[in-house]
Amino acid sequence: MLLKDKTIVLGVSGGIAAYKALDLTSRLIKAGAEVKVIMTRSAAEFVTPLSFQSLSKNAVASDMFEEPKVWEIRHISLAKAADVFAVVPATANIIGKIASGIADDMLSTTIMATKAPKLIAPAMNTNMFENPIVQSNINKLGSLDGYHFVMPESGRLACGDTGRGKLADIGVIFDEIMRLALRDKADLRGKKVLVSAGATSEPIDPVRFITNHSTGKMGFSIAKAAYLRGADVTLVSGRSTCEPINGIKTVNIFTAEEMHKAMTVLSKDADIIIMSAAVADFRPEFEAEHKIKKGSDEKLSLSLVRNPDILSELGRQYGGRKVIIGFAMETRALIESAMKKCAEKNADFIVANNLKTEGAGFGTDTNVASVIEKDGTVTEYPKMEKFKLANIILDKAVDILSK
Ligand code: C5P
Repeated sequence: MLLKDKTIVLGVSGGIAAYKALDLTSRLIKAGAEVKVIMTRSAAEFVTPLSFQSLSKNAVASDMFEEPKVWEIRHISLAKAADVFAVVPATANIIGKIASGIADDMLSTTIMATKAPKLIAPAMNTNMFENPIVQSNINKLGSLDGYHFVMPESGRLACGDTGRGKLADIGVIFDEIMRLALRDKADLRGKKVLVSAGATSEPIDPVRFITNHSTGKMGFSIAKAAYLRGADVTLVSGRSTCEPINGIKTVNIFTAEEMHKAMTVLSKDADIIIMSAAVADFRPEFEAEHKIKKGSDEKLSLSLVRNPDILSELGRQYGGRKVIIGFAMETRALIESAMKKCAEKNADFIVANNLKTEGAGFGTDTNVASVIEKDGTVTEYPKMEKFKLANIILDKAVDILSK
């Protein structure tokens, strides 16, 4: 119930994507928020206010149903109640009104009266979205304090056109609302967090490479949790099955050497460094210029050379000055080798998980981990969502930072 005691005022303007705001309402309610919906006249043509009312258990404000004198009072009370004011979907019309200071209906009037952070998720036809007037309105609002956007995606639009204008994923919008709603409790605000995730790949020839089963889920969960806690997050990601995370700078790399370079540069500014990537210890000594053909030989040998140990290097350079966290995935003697690793790599702590434990390991949404700290303390955690474990890891990092 992360959003308990938070009020989200949700403005719904008139577009076909208005129905997706129902899903958003439901997710916000499930997260414990109080949701108060305001619909424009045209939004109510697409979806009935009753649907929002049923989900939110609150009356829906819409100028279609309100007496003007009640309206005057309600727009102020709603404006004050909002911890976050979201407009989902936002049409070119409502964006234009907000940017020009026009307040001629319930939604535009309330948004003008609110001091809450505003989150605008545009959705419209591509040509409308690309219209320089719409773009300049978005840029104008984006440059003002308190206005945040989750930009639309490209895709097939309801009108049949293909292009940019499709409402962003509701999960992404939900995360952004959550981040804004929790900004007062954001214990990583002002902190720079650098996370590595995914698998490195080591080329053999232009066609083949050596890699591992890492999907990046743990690292992406840490990056997302840090972002929601207010951090300025950079993610250095190798091969991964995860979608990019809105609001997080992501540097995509292929090889361990590329990850090494990126982490070396980006670590300079970081307060917390979390190496959750599965970095190949070795790479082929030479990458063949052309595809290796099978000849008559029954065997083929690859000569491998060591990759740099990024965590060790960063630990050596910044240990004690920045928070350094590593991971250890083993198939046996987990705690012993994690302890050794923590000391050798000069990390503050190591998050260790055994690949053989059910619910832990590659590609799962859960993990079963132990945290081994540099003073030798071992804490074992039960099976839990990777996102929850990410927050436990960050709690520990915040704790170390505060010391
Ligand atoms: O030594 P081992 O590979 O088990 O250590 C795992 C930890 O070290 C992980 O945090 C991983 O991201 C990091 N690592 C690294 N560079 C390597 C190998 C592992 O930073 N070449």
